Amino acid sequence: MPLIDPVLLKTRLGNLAGRFDVDALDACDSTSSELLRRVGAPAGSVVVADRQSAGRGRRGRQWLSDPAASLTFSLLWRLPAGHRPGGLSLAVGVALLRALTRLGAAGVCLKWPNDVLLAGDGGFAKLAGILVELTSDRRGTQACIGIGINLATPAGEFAQPVAGLERAIAGGVERHALLAAILTALVEVLDTFTVDGFAALKTEWERGHAWQDRPVRLLADGEGERSGICRGVDADGALLLATAAGVERILAGDLSLRAA
Ligand code: BTN
Repeated sequence: MPLIDPVLLKTRLGNLAGRFDVDALDACDSTSSELLRRVGAPAGSVVVADRQSAGRGRRGRQWLSDPAASLTFSLLWRLPAGHRPGGLSLAVGVALLRALTRLGAAGVCLKWPNDVLLAGDGGFAKLAGILVELTSDRRGTQACIGIGINLATPAGEFAQPVAGLERAIAGGVERHALLAAILTALVEVLDTFTVDGFAALKTEWERGHAWQDRPVRLLADGEGERSGICRGVDADGALLLATAAGVERILAGDLSLRAA
């Protein structure tokens, strides 16, 4: 039996249970791949799996999930034709920050474009990753929102420090309560995003931004290093870096932000 029981999850979701159609699996290749194969699935469809054999991270990286130590799921959302999806992955970060803060987590913050970090004595460590995959046609945009959260600190070698939620919430959090809190925050944030776009969530993102108004060095793929003051993001979710030459808009890429 999968670790998530959809019936128990429904009770935790209360009034919002009707907004979701949750399928819990023991294992699959990737919850996002599985959801994307379900052509015509309605908005609010969720696939959650204990184990992924081919979990996908950003930029073709692998995302490992250990059933005892992680929560991995994907949610389908739809935006109407003409809606600009810029900033959607940042909006998802806001939902995670809201949910974890409501559960009592301390030290959770955001890194552009879509990492959720935990601040600690030794600096920042990655707590959760977000992978948003968009497909558009004349009816609008479909977003497959994949989220992986470390419940315990993963073992092994990683490109950056990693942390588990157990470090942010004393005693940890029951996984149904956690998933329900995240889905609740996601529906709130995505309803706002659908009507008003990322502009309505920008201030909240910046309040949670680990490098807001701080001097940073920005290391981007194939480009030189740039230094400046990180001025947050604009209404489309682009990162704003104030340099001697003016304010630069950083739109995409695999950026490494380092405190200057
Ligand atoms: C990142 O690189 O930081 C994003 C990681 C996103 C991982 C999640 S786990 C659930 C969903 N299914 C996947 O295959 N990937 C996403």
